[in-house]
Amino acid sequence: MVALVVPGAVLAACSDSSDSSGGATTNGSTPGGSTPGGGGAAGLTAVADVPEGGGVIVANPEGGMLLIVREGDEVKAYNAACTHMGTTVEAPVDGVSTCPNHGSQFNAADGSVKKGPAAQPLATVDVKVEGDQVVLA
Ligand code: FES
Repeated sequence: MVALVVPGAVLAACSDSSDSSGGATTNGSTPGGSTPGGGGAAGLTAVADVPEGGGVIVANPEGGMLLIVREGDEVKAYNAACTHMGTTVEAPVDGVSTCPNHGSQFNAADGSVKKGPAAQPLATVDVKVEGDQVVLA
C-alpha cells in the first residue's frame, strides 16, 4: 500500500534539475541583496533607534518615506510627505516636525498641523512593534 509511488513524479523532479536552460528564469528573481536570515517582516527601524519623545525618517518599503515617532512604549508612524506639496518632513525636534520646503510644522504626537501653509495633518500609517523592530501593521 505504501509503495504506491508515482514514477512520473520522480521523473518530473529529475527533469527539473536537469533542465539547465530553464534555470535562468528562477535565478532572475533571486533576491541576492536582501537581508540574510530575515525571519519575518523586515523591520522599518529598531525601536531603540527611535528617540523617546522624538522620531526618525525611514524609507517605507511600500513607497515614500515614513516619520516614526515614539512616546514611551507607544510607536506611531505617519507618511512623511508634507501635506502641502509632498516634501519629506524632517525628524521632530521638541515634538515638532518641520517641512524644509515652506516651513509647515506638524505635531509629532498626532500628526496635526501646528503651522501652515499645510492645512491637512500628516497621514497616519499603521505600524506595530515586533521584537525590537517597528514593522508595518
Ligand atoms: S511642501 Fe511642505 S510646506 Fe510646502
